[in-house]
Amino acid sequence: MDAALHERPIEELSLEEAAAELAHLAEEIAHHDKLYHEQDAPEISDADYDALRRRNEAIESLHPDLVRDDSPSRRVGARPAAGFATVTHTVPMLSLGNAFDDEDVADFLERVRRFLGLDEAQDVAVVAEPKIDGLAVSLRYENGRYVRAATRGDGTVGEDITANVATIDDVPDRVDADDMPGVFEIRGEVYLRRDDFFALNEAREAEDQPRFANPRNAAAGSLRQLDVAITASRNLKLFVYAWGEADALPAETHWGMLEAFKRWGFQVNPHIALCHDLDAMLKLYRSVGEERADLPYDIDGVVYKIDRLDWQRRLGFVSRAPRWAIAHKFPAEKAQTVLKEIKIQVGRTGTLTPVAVLEPVTVGGVVVQHATLHNEEEIERKDVRVGDTVIVQRAGDVIPQVLGPVKEKRRKGARRYKFPQKCPICGSMAVREHNPKTGKLDAARRCTGGLICPAQAVERLRHFVSRNAFDIEGLGDKQVQFFWDREEIRNPVEIFTLAKRDGDSETHLADQDGWGEVSARNLFQAIEDRRQIGLDRFINALGIRHIGETTARVLARSYGSAAAFYKAMRDAKVGEGESWDDLLNIDGIGETAAEALVEFFAEPHNREIVEGLLDQLEVEDMAAAASDTAVAGKTVVFTGSLEAMTRQEAKATAESLGAKVAGSVSAKTDIVVAGPGAGSKLKKATELGLTVMTEEEWLALIGR
Ligand code: IVH
Repeated sequence: MDAALHERPIEELSLEEAAAELAHLAEEIAHHDKLYHEQDAPEISDADYDALRRRNEAIESLHPDLVRDDSPSRRVGARPAAGFATVTHTVPMLSLGNAFDDEDVADFLERVRRFLGLDEAQDVAVVAEPKIDGLAVSLRYENGRYVRAATRGDGTVGEDITANVATIDDVPDRVDADDMPGVFEIRGEVYLRRDDFFALNEAREAEDQPRFANPRNAAAGSLRQLDVAITASRNLKLFVYAWGEADALPAETHWGMLEAFKRWGFQVNPHIALCHDLDAMLKLYRSVGEERADLPYDIDGVVYKIDRLDWQRRLGFVSRAPRWAIAHKFPAEKAQTVLKEIKIQVGRTGTLTPVAVLEPVTVGGVVVQHATLHNEEEIERKDVRVGDTVIVQRAGDVIPQVLGPVKEKRRKGARRYKFPQKCPICGSMAVREHNPKTGKLDAARRCTGGLICPAQAVERLRHFVSRNAFDIEGLGDKQVQFFWDREEIRNPVEIFTLAKRDGDSETHLADQDGWGEVSARNLFQAIEDRRQIGLDRFINALGIRHIGETTARVLARSYGSAAAFYKAMRDAKVGEGESWDDLLNIDGIGETAAEALVEFFAEPHNREIVEGLLDQLEVEDMAAAASDTAVAGKTVVFTGSLEAMTRQEAKATAESLGAKVAGSVSAKTDIVVAGPGAGSKLKKATELGLTVMTEEEWLALIGR
């Protein structure tokens, strides 16, 4: 996590800073949601993720005006992955608010009492049940027959995993019970037992497949398989604890519902309790916490639910979570061990990440030997030294972290850690940049080696051939590493000389392990097909920092041809001359992006690659953006919900007509398209006297 950014006390933030941080948090949380839900490969711990969401919510509660349309508090998770049909949940699958200590739990009870207007004497029964760390699913039964299953997805639209869930032993395909309603959606958590998880990882290791980070990700990865036979082989399990659409209910309390679920043949977690006061709730929390390590599956807290269903209905929901339930999280597990060494890893954009090499230690049942130290600033701030006894934390998560040293145990003469000033892989200078927004040094140090740094080079090659760049079929992550290891593709230019070199060589790709005539020929053809490429894709493919797909398109439209673009970039110097001014004058290019461009093209190695590519390729000119449409050159903001198309589609359409789509309303905005539910942006637009229109009027304007 970017510590510097998320540590300022919220009250100290100016309005602008709060807005900027909310924007940043929305992006960051969406990124982590995607890694977690779509790729089953989280980068940060659950605790850090929770901290991000909590900070987002805290800033929002202080500045309700600044709540964004894309705020994480309005979403629960990521969208469905490709390959699965979608299922719309008529009753949304929501999330839970969190309690982190006893006081939060007491507050929860207090809020419930206040909301319902109950007096002290009134008994409020609460069901406490373990929070299973798996994957939420919804199973639909019609007339007692299992007909469909779906993932939670974004809470409203999930993925159809009917065939996958049918393979789970805990899922009855028929329920013969008098009180089973005609339509009943039962909800719960699919999980994998820890022993099955270890066995699975061992098998994967033997087959050279990547290990799953934890049982939760393994369960998710096993469930979301297009090949159902794989799901069937994984011994997934299911605990049920909730429901969605239902014609009728078999009980009037949550406890009664769980009893019915058991009668119907489902598995309900046995560690549940019906509590009548705070003490009883906390007692269950503590006893489950003690048993946690011995349970055969992972849990990450206890969920408390108000027992009476009529009260649940009255309490209702706030944004993404019910008022009638709360998740009491377990604290992260910690242990002490000795820091043997600090290794530096180099990431895709050159970020140097310090990794702690530890004396192996068991934290929460898992042996930890490596942990992240985040970045240079964190090491400085915590003053972590090699040889120190350190506190390591693991929170049901992937990457354990070093919290800090135990200073009393420090050896005499232990030296402060000196962070390398050069990239350990390529020897280029590694720098910490000034962040112009905060006026501070960036927390992380980065390698300036660009395309010549091997660590970055592999990642950049992957980016170069990826879908939004050169999109070369048959050249995925694995193949990039294959050619890298064989020293056959060390830079993007070599992709385009591969076929010729293969023809001239004694050993042919077709004869190598894992390849054959057909796959080699297909790859060479796929590369050949990309010798012609649009300027926007070409620029994006270079993988210049701060220059993504959108900025690349802006640049391509502005310069028109590869020759003009390259000449301008070679000429540009930061802060001076015509080329620099031209660059900054482009709508959509800020100073950060401009500096990144100049820096990239100032590096001789990078110029060599670009020139090499220009020799090999035919980069197509790019026409300037549409200029003869009703909205060309206008800045448009979409707010509220859209009916005719998704936000993404609306944006793409507007841009294809030459309009610029902005995220926030300002005096520079020309048109605000406001759908139902539009809030602060609409208000601001009206105050500024901007043109506001409905979605229908917008569609008429653009002739759709
Ligand atoms: S109740 C409307 N009970 O935790 C509330 N959720 O953080 C429905 N979970 O999406 C959820 N164990 O995937 C509930 N005993 C339990 C749970 C549980 C695990 C998961 C579930 C939910 C998430 C919320």
